[in-house]
Amino acid sequence: LVGLLTLVACGTSGNEESNTTGSDTESDSTEESAADEPEEKKVLQIGTDAAFAPFEFMETGEIVGFDVDILEAVMVEAGYEYELKNVGWDPMFASLQQKDLDFGVSAITINDDRKATYDFSTPYFKSTHMIVFNEGSDITSAADLEGLKIGVQNGTTGEDAAEKIVGENSSTISKYETTAVAFMALANGDIEAVVTDNVVADEYVANNPDAKVEAITDEESFEAEYYGFMFPKDSELVTDVDAALTTVIESGKYAEIYKEWFGAEPNTDELLN
Ligand code: ARG
Repeated sequence: LVGLLTLVACGTSGNEESNTTGSDTESDSTEESAADEPEEKKVLQIGTDAAFAPFEFMETGEIVGFDVDILEAVMVEAGYEYELKNVGWDPMFASLQQKDLDFGVSAITINDDRKATYDFSTPYFKSTHMIVFNEGSDITSAADLEGLKIGVQNGTTGEDAAEKIVGENSSTISKYETTAVAFMALANGDIEAVVTDNVVADEYVANNPDAKVEAITDEESFEAEYYGFMFPKDSELVTDVDAALTTVIESGKYAEIYKEWFGAEPNTDELLN
């Protein structure tokens, strides 16, 4: 790691956790009275929902994950200081709309619906959906979701994918605040299937052998999608962040982080085109 990180202990309110890091080390500037402080570097406020392993999750009080490492690399490259806060999924969207956050990094799928309200970076990850269910259930395709009690994280593309199959506002869909809670509901028997992003589904199956779950995808029913960083509409940060992200991908830094988390070589061509 090249950049020096400043780890700043900072008070957090409620159950909101945050990682404060900066790409620059600066000697503490004394408090200045003047209103014009062009030298003062703004600390960007970035939101996430850290219950979506391996992209973002809590580990010993820290937000960690693939997204967190990509974000760090991009911010070092762009020369921004930032604070990553675990604000939760729905609040993140609300805060971005009100421009209370500078951007969101949370395995957020780029789609036209969201583009009406938010701006996106260029893509940094390709994803699709999977169905997670208890071993022994007779589920072999997305069509089998019909008539089952399905759980999704509220306001995600997993919800859209499930609704596409069983109908919008179907009473068979339960919407949870986090994907982690949806998995718990599956373990409890409250629901029979969870529709979520493929890498998260695979990770949950692999890391929870006692849960006795399996996951399948259905390429005919679930479309590929791409993750991006999500900004308030007309954010001036997008250009800089895009340039830094492209450099991180082209320099091989992206591949390095990808290999650390997924143990494989990424296909960066599909991200750069
Ligand atoms: N990719 C999906 C979406 O954008 C799910 C993302 C959920 N991310 C999270 N950190 N909970 O809707």
